[in-house]
Amino acid sequence: MYVLGLTTLGDAAASLIHDGEIVAAAEEERFSRVKHHSGFPYLAIQYCLDQAGITIADVGHIALYWKPWILRHKAMQAIKAATISADMFRARVDRGVEQVSKSYLGMFRYPREIRRHFGPSDFKFHYYEHHLCHAASAFYLSPFKSAAILTMDGTGEETTTMFSRGEDVNLRPLKRIKLPHSLGQFYSAVTNFIGFDMFAGDEWKLMGLAAYGEPVYKDFFSRRVLSANGNGDFHLNIRTLDHHLAKHYQFPDELIQELGPARQPDEKIEKRHMDIAASAQEVLEDVVLKLLHNLHEQTGEKNLCLAGGVAFNSVMNGRIMQESPFENFFIQPAAGDAGCSLGAAYLVHHKVLKQPRAAQMEHAYYGPGFSSEECAAVLKGAGLEFETLEEDQLIARVAKMIADGAIVGWFHGRMEFGPRALGRRSFLADPRRADMRELLNEKVKLREWFRPLAPSMLEEASPKLFGIDHRDPFMVTVLAVREEMRDRIPAVVHVDGTARPQTVSRKTNPRYWKLLKEFERIAGVPVLLNTSFNIQEPIVCTPADAVRTFQAASFDALILEDHLVLRQGAHL
Ligand SMILES: [Fe+2]
Repeated sequence: MYVLGLTTLGDAAASLIHDGEIVAAAEEERFSRVKHHSGFPYLAIQYCLDQAGITIADVGHIALYWKPWILRHKAMQAIKAATISADMFRARVDRGVEQVSKSYLGMFRYPREIRRHFGPSDFKFHYYEHHLCHAASAFYLSPFKSAAILTMDGTGEETTTMFSRGEDVNLRPLKRIKLPHSLGQFYSAVTNFIGFDMFAGDEWKLMGLAAYGEPVYKDFFSRRVLSANGNGDFHLNIRTLDHHLAKHYQFPDELIQELGPARQPDEKIEKRHMDIAASAQEVLEDVVLKLLHNLHEQTGEKNLCLAGGVAFNSVMNGRIMQESPFENFFIQPAAGDAGCSLGAAYLVHHKVLKQPRAAQMEHAYYGPGFSSEECAAVLKGAGLEFETLEEDQLIARVAKMIADGAIVGWFHGRMEFGPRALGRRSFLADPRRADMRELLNEKVKLREWFRPLAPSMLEEASPKLFGIDHRDPFMVTVLAVREEMRDRIPAVVHVDGTARPQTVSRKTNPRYWKLLKEFERIAGVPVLLNTSFNIQEPIVCTPADAVRTFQAASFDALILEDHLVLRQGAHL
């Protein structure tokens, strides 16, 4: 039985499962080339069907990640906001009317629209609660028979944070924290205060900047903005920091009196901005750790699953692994809303079809892949000269090239589901060169100097780098690098001595594992600098995307499957 799961507002995506196995999962942005694509995922659905070699008539169930009729709580919040300020009320009502008219009502028409666009089909259509989809995406694909689950995001229909417990196929919500109390909206609002853009997903920038600051405003944040009450609850004071006003870069007087003026997007980043970022980051971490203590008490579980956009906060995840009472962790690699499409499909599989659990997500390579012939045809079409090499030859050439200072675009196999490049669509470079971060950020990726770059490493090398046997194929946790290793791989160690590693296994990514092994042999470190293969657009998906990026940028070599293209005059 084929089941299709859909995410249709921000980070639109489709996931297809067959008899409980993942067949395909991809974000719409990879095809439309619009970052965080919001809208119906026509192209991602078509990709899922093509990957399976089926039509919509073969799909038995389609599940949506949202219940569009849950509106009452949001309406009440808008009315409450009117008692605080007219601006706050207006910001909520304007947004609410737009959401209801454009997005939510449209969800009721999806079954008809799918048949109109993709053809006749007898599928049954299901609507699931947003946070239940997040929870399902983490728990059902985890290795755990039972686990506590914490989901945290900006907001679902009305819930922003949910405690759940999963046991076999049962997934039971234990507690819902609702608007306006939202960890995701808190972090996004501070992101805009620092002059970044929450709509562009700039929360990463706030987290990267936090490492440069001191948490000198932490007391103010925890007293007046985001407070935990010790009972597994937290409170976001919208009189001091309101997400809806922050969207328009408007901030209450109290916040400005305490923190100084908000940074303008083109203003220089100063120590004060770094300190604000560090303070917001620590307060978020403290609140989440308190929630986890409560969740642990409630469930008695030793396993923890995390999902929701806040679970992308890899610095927070590092603290959770070290300081929370849980012992084992699974964080969904598509922790944001795209991953809800996968969760929705598994809710049908277990709840409607009553099927037992069998799947486990060991990798995220469920996106499109292209044959050697398809890649060669694109290179020829672009008029590029290339060599076609056996795998061992290719690996030897690429490892040497990187050790000699080249930046390469590495395109191999089916692409990643989720925002991280995990060795299928990656820029790779030498982590030993301290100047590589600046070179990549400013010259190749055209982005801010302070953005950390992360390492891919042989999974068996974890004790050497971090002093622990850490397995994280999805790059979702920041850990402290052992002192004696920091100087050896400076390009992938952040200013505070941490790194966010991807541990690469021979089983799930054999070619990338071999490249790391060869690099270790010639360079002495089992690590490569790995950042996503894209320049100011979604990660490249097709060979044509990769070639277009190569022609427009200044990196040294492009590897499309077994074909190698060198840039003339590059470091080779
Ligand atoms: Fe979400």
